[in-house]
Amino acid sequence: MNILAVESSCDETAVAIVKDGREILTDCIASQVDLHRIYGGVVPEIASRKHIEAIYGLADQALEKTGLTRSDIDAVAVTYAPGLIGAVLVGVNFAKAAALALGKPLIPVHHIRGHIAANYLAYPDLEPPFLCLVVSGGHTMIIDVQDYTKMEILGTTLDDAAGECFDKVGRVLGMPYPGGAALDKAASMGDETKYNLPRSKPGQNPYDMSFSGLKTAALNLIHHAEQVGEELDTNSLCASFCAAVSDTLVPRVVQAMEQTGRRKLAVAGGVAANSRIRADIMKAAEQLNAEVYLPPLKLCGDNAAMIGAQGYYEYIAGNTAGMELNAYATKSILGEAL
Ligand code: KG4
Ligand code: ZN
Repeated sequence: MNILAVESSCDETAVAIVKDGREILTDCIASQVDLHRIYGGVVPEIASRKHIEAIYGLADQALEKTGLTRSDIDAVAVTYAPGLIGAVLVGVNFAKAAALALGKPLIPVHHIRGHIAANYLAYPDLEPPFLCLVVSGGHTMIIDVQDYTKMEILGTTLDDAAGECFDKVGRVLGMPYPGGAALDKAASMGDETKYNLPRSKPGQNPYDMSFSGLKTAALNLIHHAEQVGEELDTNSLCASFCAAVSDTLVPRVVQAMEQTGRRKLAVAGGVAANSRIRADIMKAAEQLNAEVYLPPLKLCGDNAAMIGAQGYYEYIAGNTAGMELNAYATKSILGEAL
């Protein structure tokens, strides 16, 4: 089954064609990151306009690259939530038009379910159940993936997402948007023991997390150094910050693995590209004697192939939509009936 998949929830316009949920036939992305960089973050209005400009050409490109024709497409999958509402709407409307014109099913896909499904593309033998740490610009969650479309949220951030903190600290350090990758690179040259940053334990649920205290502590440290004219060891601050984020995430994942008895551990989302988190997850999996699934960096960030992968399983579960499909800025990954 060839699925034409569309992703436009933030600042990447992406169209992919995925076969049977596991094989990427093509994955086309038009990134807007350079455009938003001068503003230090994504400008929603600009994002929507750029999606409109790029999306049709990308879909044509996807067909051209694979040598497929429109009649070879069996269904159209699209990110319908969550994201910047104007941006998501562009993809949803394009997908509706494509499904209608082709006379093929329309499959709504939750963006975070898509991130998890990136693992199915990277590891064709991976099947649920497994535990997944989702860390992106907008979400930080520990999810028990019981089946392709059945999930339980074990824990979540109670305030900022880890990616938001990376981007905010990166911005204050003068790094280009989005700061995560640059911060990661700087960390590799630093001493993580140099700065003492907090690892908070919020609430009753042992799997819930908090990052706003860590973000504020890092920002205070930077501002204080500026005020007293002290030279900051940026690389070491980045290393200490990455260590604090990873120390917040990984022990909770270990505890969740032990409690659920899962034998497979996956990661997903843009922040899953972080070197320190990847290394700690690998170590943890080894200690747990669990299989570990770390998608390549290209599949960690936003892309449409992951939407095509999850779209296949949503289709099998009967989760298709009609032309009344709407876009949502926020929606639970558990996904109530449409
Ligand atoms: O999943 P994603 O591409 O978009 C969302 O759905 O949010 O994640 C983007 C986030 C940004 O916050 C970016 O700074 C972060 O992923 N990121 C990283 C790294 N690469 C990207 N954070 C830490 N270390 C990295 N190497
Ligand atoms: Zn994402």
